[in-house]
Amino acid sequence: MITLSDVYIIGAGETKFGELWDKSLRNLAVEAGLKAIENAGIYSKDIDIIYGANGLAGVINKQENIGALIADFSGLSEEGIPAIRIEASTASGAAAVHEAYLAIKSGEYNVAVVGGVEKMTDIHGHEINEIMSSILDREWESFYGATPASMAALIARKYMKDFNIEKEALSMISVNDHENASRNPDAQYRNKISLKQAMESVMVADPLTLMDCSPISDGAAAIVLASEDFVKRNKKDGVKILASAIAEDYLDVGSRKSIYTFNSTKKAARLAFDRAGIKSDDVSFAEIHDSFSIYGLLALEDLGFADKGNAKDLVYDEIKLSGRIPLNPSGGLKAKGDPYGAVGVGQFVEAYLQLMEKAGDRQVKSPRYGLLHNMAGTGATSVVHILGD
Ligand code: COA
Repeated sequence: MITLSDVYIIGAGETKFGELWDKSLRNLAVEAGLKAIENAGIYSKDIDIIYGANGLAGVINKQENIGALIADFSGLSEEGIPAIRIEASTASGAAAVHEAYLAIKSGEYNVAVVGGVEKMTDIHGHEINEIMSSILDREWESFYGATPASMAALIARKYMKDFNIEKEALSMISVNDHENASRNPDAQYRNKISLKQAMESVMVADPLTLMDCSPISDGAAAIVLASEDFVKRNKKDGVKILASAIAEDYLDVGSRKSIYTFNSTKKAARLAFDRAGIKSDDVSFAEIHDSFSIYGLLALEDLGFADKGNAKDLVYDEIKLSGRIPLNPSGGLKAKGDPYGAVGVGQFVEAYLQLMEKAGDRQVKSPRYGLLHNMAGTGATSVVHILGD
């Protein structure tokens, strides 16, 4: 008979996110991985498998075979530990955690290290925008000039028109992210911004201004997952993964019934809440995938924190660190940064710190359940995790 194991996060670590010109892809991956391993207090002999999450290194850095590279430069190749790469665009990080979770839950492995890394700032702005656009549907979207920002702008315009939403509601998502990032030493942008600054920043894709957009980022994050048996035998402290769910929607946005309802997020959230046995009201904080401020509003709705068109009512007080649903205590993609493969794993680093009550200045008061939402591009893939006791 197969015995399913509970799965715990027993260690976490990350690099700073930002323009890190003095660090290479491999430096970043190893720095985060070693921090997580040290934090977990484990040795190389304990590690059964490594999952490396990465979106675009083959094109940006001309480096594929990321799993082997990470194992090699962590000094683990000699041990013969399997190391594989998981790619699901900007959802690569949480997708890799999902795979590691299943591998441990099945009883096959006791300990897995999941690392996410991306190095995006070494090439010119127009080049990186073209590369980032490859995560869209080539034949129906990017071939005609669509970029992630222009797609988000189209979605924002339709949403604002249909629900009579003012730009201010979008900007408040960014104001909140910058406020929280000012308390996070690993964040790319630690400056607070006012609503006026957010509203009046330079236009990128109407109606989205600079302060509605996540930046181009380098960075890496890693966590160590372990089975219940390993945790008990080695008397480890940890945070339990209560649910891990992943779902898809059409890649090209035009095929969807609604362009401002992300069915992948709705389905993954429904599965995750069912599996965890909790409701959205029980969530103590959420890290959501707000690569553009409009996606912050849509995630609040598709995750079940507000009805469609009503997320605007949450953005002034409820999403603050002291509010009903603290949003992105890390600073989110807007201000902590958006290094593709590292983003989803970075959300776990934040949730681990929050639930262990080690998040310093940005600690949410006595959190019980954390919800993590990591999404690919315009919402083709969404991964939702719920962590807690
Ligand atoms: N938020 C805040 N400040 C930003 C920023 C952002 N998103 N992006 C750049 N900046 C700042 C830089 O730090 C720099 O500041 P400085 O002059 O004080 O040094 C200044 O703006 C200019 O930076 P630069 O790198 O030249 O900006 P850019 O015009 O090349 O890029 C964007 C700006 C918005 C086009 C770029 O950040 C972008 O493409 N973001 C979207 C990322 C994306 O599509 N992600 C995909 C998600 S699926």
